[in-house]
Amino acid sequence: MQSRPYVAQRRERRAVIRAASAGLPAFDAGFLRDPYPAYRALREAGPLHWCEDFFQGAWLLTRHEDVERVLRDPRFSSQRTGGWVKRAEGLDAGHGGAYAMARAQGGLDRFQRLFSRAMVFLDAPDHTRLRRAMLGGFHPATIRALAPEIERLADEILDGLDGRQGFDFIETVARPLPSRVIGLLLGIDRADEAQFIAWSEELAVFIGAVRPEAEQLQRAQRSLMQLVRYFDALIETRRRAPGTDLLSRLVQAEEHGLVRTDGELLAQCAMLLFAGHETTRNLLGNGLFTLLSHPRQWAALCAQPDGIGAAVREVLRYDSPVQYTGRRVSREIELHGHTLRRGELVIALIGSANRDPARYTEPERFDITRGEGSHLAFGSGPHVCIGAGLSMLEADITLRALMRRWPGLRMIDAEPQWNGNAALRGLLRLPVRCGGAGPEGGVPESGAREKQQPAPELTPSSA
Ligand code: HEM
Repeated sequence: MQSRPYVAQRRERRAVIRAASAGLPAFDAGFLRDPYPAYRALREAGPLHWCEDFFQGAWLLTRHEDVERVLRDPRFSSQRTGGWVKRAEGLDAGHGGAYAMARAQGGLDRFQRLFSRAMVFLDAPDHTRLRRAMLGGFHPATIRALAPEIERLADEILDGLDGRQGFDFIETVARPLPSRVIGLLLGIDRADEAQFIAWSEELAVFIGAVRPEAEQLQRAQRSLMQLVRYFDALIETRRRAPGTDLLSRLVQAEEHGLVRTDGELLAQCAMLLFAGHETTRNLLGNGLFTLLSHPRQWAALCAQPDGIGAAVREVLRYDSPVQYTGRRVSREIELHGHTLRRGELVIALIGSANRDPARYTEPERFDITRGEGSHLAFGSGPHVCIGAGLSMLEADITLRALMRRWPGLRMIDAEPQWNGNAALRGLLRLPVRCGGAGPEGGVPESGAREKQQPAPELTPSSA
């Protein structure tokens, strides 16, 4: 139990910090639709801010250099799931004790215990051990070998749209494809796809909410428990009859002692489903939306599809599917004139870092010929995304297939509908019209944000 003086001290410190961080932009519905003006204001106001709106108090890091450095610094720990329980307790006042009830049922603690074993929430040496167990499944050669199968899955979905005037890209393509690919990776039956998508969405809503509702927590808990039961059964089948998929690999790693038997395997499965599904959906959605909002660049790409790799990298920089990740301060650190205390949460704003003018020329401009090196969309350091190659391959294959079939593709809605998730930024809907014409006719009916400029020339150096 914390002593009264400690609580009083903490309150006092927060008051001091709050005063120093006055005038932050509002993290409201407008922010969830378009966070970039707020990021810009934050960056211009300084590199580090204390913000009460994020998880009941967190340090926000705004600049590219700091985000990269903190993600690589072991003094900033990845063990941060304990905060979910604390955050929920703090929020109870406004929820009539719904969190306390969830806690009493043991659900929230189980939820936290399971996720705390996922490697994304661990530090060395446990993180290193689990990452080693997982790496084989994500080796570039293993991922390349999946390409024909991913092409087949993408074609199967797009063939089903032939003859249609238009379709909602999110519902018909971006939603099912990544879950089929994860299914392929883990060797999951297609019949279970709908359940999988629903569970993953409930988890994403809770994990991505800056101030989660009790209802969101309860749904996430329910989904996680169903997911656990599902994977328990699946793991049993792999023990009896191992295959060549990632799940069989992890079961074998457990048998060889590389993965512990106390629920670690289950935690990695839940993490993979969640980490690889929502993120890639949003890369596909944000990618197509941004390209169709810039019809000249879409046209240039249709004419020279080999520029697709550079275009996907620019989408990742310009509108990152993962907008931030967190770390906990493991010991007192001085940073930009502030003392960061042990246990405090640091939010590394990837979305802001990727638009930092100190790192990129005219960062608010989308430019598929940019060629200014890497972005931080996949993080950095020991936890850098293990699925980066896979998600880029999915985006490459899907966008190429779309350009081949419908170079005249255009958007229908003027106002995109964003999902309202501060961490996992993506669209709820993206209605498109197939359009018969070539790319010249590819000006969207609405929502175009590109000024009248000549189409960019794609050169090998820009890739
Ligand atoms: C566009 C798609 C994706 C984006 C933007 C993305 C982003 C990220 C980021 C930012 C991190 C670092 C988190 C941190 O440092 O706290 C990460 C880690 C991770 N990602 Fe991804 N991810 C994507 C796709 C995938 C896919 C397809 C998979 C797997 C199938 C995956 C699995 C993972 C895993 C397992 C980690 C944890 C790695 C570790 O802790 O060592 N991700 N991802």
